[in-house]
Amino acid sequence: MDSMQDMPLPQLSPLANPAGAFDDLNPTPRLLMGPGPINADPRVLKAMSTQLLGQFDPQFRRMMRETMALYRALFETSNDWSLVLDGTARAAIEMVMLSCVEPGDKVLVCSFGRFGQLLNEIAQRCGADVRVVQAEWGTVFDLAQIEAALKAFSPKLVAICQGDTSTTMLQPLAGLGELCHRYGAMLQVDATATCGGAPLPVDEWRVDAVTAGLQKCLAGPSGASPITLSPAIAQIIYNRRHIEEGLRPAAYVPGTGRRIASNYMDLAMVMDYWGDAGLNHHTEATTMLYGARECARILLQEGLNQAHARHAAASRAVVAGVQGMNLRLYGDASNKMPNVTGVCVPDGVNGDRLRAALLNHFGIEIGTSFGPLHGKVWRIGAMGYNARQDCVLGTLAALEVVLAAEGHKFTRGAGVDAAYAAYQG
Ligand SMILES: Cc1ncc(COP(=O)(O)O)c(C=O)c1O
Repeated sequence: MDSMQDMPLPQLSPLANPAGAFDDLNPTPRLLMGPGPINADPRVLKAMSTQLLGQFDPQFRRMMRETMALYRALFETSNDWSLVLDGTARAAIEMVMLSCVEPGDKVLVCSFGRFGQLLNEIAQRCGADVRVVQAEWGTVFDLAQIEAALKAFSPKLVAICQGDTSTTMLQPLAGLGELCHRYGAMLQVDATATCGGAPLPVDEWRVDAVTAGLQKCLAGPSGASPITLSPAIAQIIYNRRHIEEGLRPAAYVPGTGRRIASNYMDLAMVMDYWGDAGLNHHTEATTMLYGARECARILLQEGLNQAHARHAAASRAVVAGVQGMNLRLYGDASNKMPNVTGVCVPDGVNGDRLRAALLNHFGIEIGTSFGPLHGKVWRIGAMGYNARQDCVLGTLAALEVVLAAEGHKFTRGAGVDAAYAAYQG
């Protein structure tokens, strides 16, 4: 390529204090009340400081199987192939799609926010023939809209978010799996932002693939991603099994399907690694596995229903609190995610300056949103370890102070009182 056509590399400013690189890590603690990540449960951090094991150590192999069993319970499924992938949630979405979808396959993406756009982007990169149906941001689909697209397009796979964190909307999913199957399609759900915070009974709702992340309602860090695969989608993926040359066992027979385009993202090889064959693939991120195992243990010890109720209670309190401060909710309130609340930035208030004041004066982080919603919507999360009364009330109390400093008109104390009452009632 002619150097005149080169794309300028991204700007990278020099480190202000190079000697600081040798300082101990000692960041000012923050309360993370945005759309995720949130503060990890200390139990998860403790589990992650466990000494490493070799990935083929029998003790570690047992932990992998235990982790599969824990995530089966968490996903409310009997799917054998319930496991944890190394990579953040988008890696898991991409691994499932790339391993299942062959170039030219039809994928229907149901998009109601920025993460629907991500599903589209990933499907495009898989070489799929993609059709996008769009629900206006701040709303969700009714099943008739999706059925019309299924009828017209006959996709192999339908991809949708359960919760699109960008708009804070929660798509009702009961009945969608059955609908997709009626039209010969499989259903992939991105539950990154909702897993553990809202019901998703995978078998009952007949979802073929669910991907999640640890960094939201599961109270862990990002970096490992639980997934579950129905027997049908697992079979489609495994038919594309092409083991890399250096790892092939003696009696190796490749699958009849087309080789998956990425080595790292090849779920068929990952299945061989997690299965009894224990074939080498990547070097397992053992520390992340310890963390993922602990996240599931914590949630199941609490009880799925109890965890969902805790998120719903936090949501009611945040809603009561912001409304008590004379703020408007963003989007369709009857379909909001229980763990994130979208709040319209009122006229005359500088949304980013308010967030900076919350962070700098109270150590509390809340989020803005993406694209057209940037600076117009705040996103207040109460999820995972932070879906607690003390976190919610403290955040709302701080919000009152910085809102008043921005000149917003409301009755001081009314928001926190309303949230407190919501928790008591
Ligand atoms: C709904 C949804 N999907 C996907 C992602 C991407 O996850 P990750 O950043 O872990 O790759 C996010 C992240 O916030 C999300 O909220």
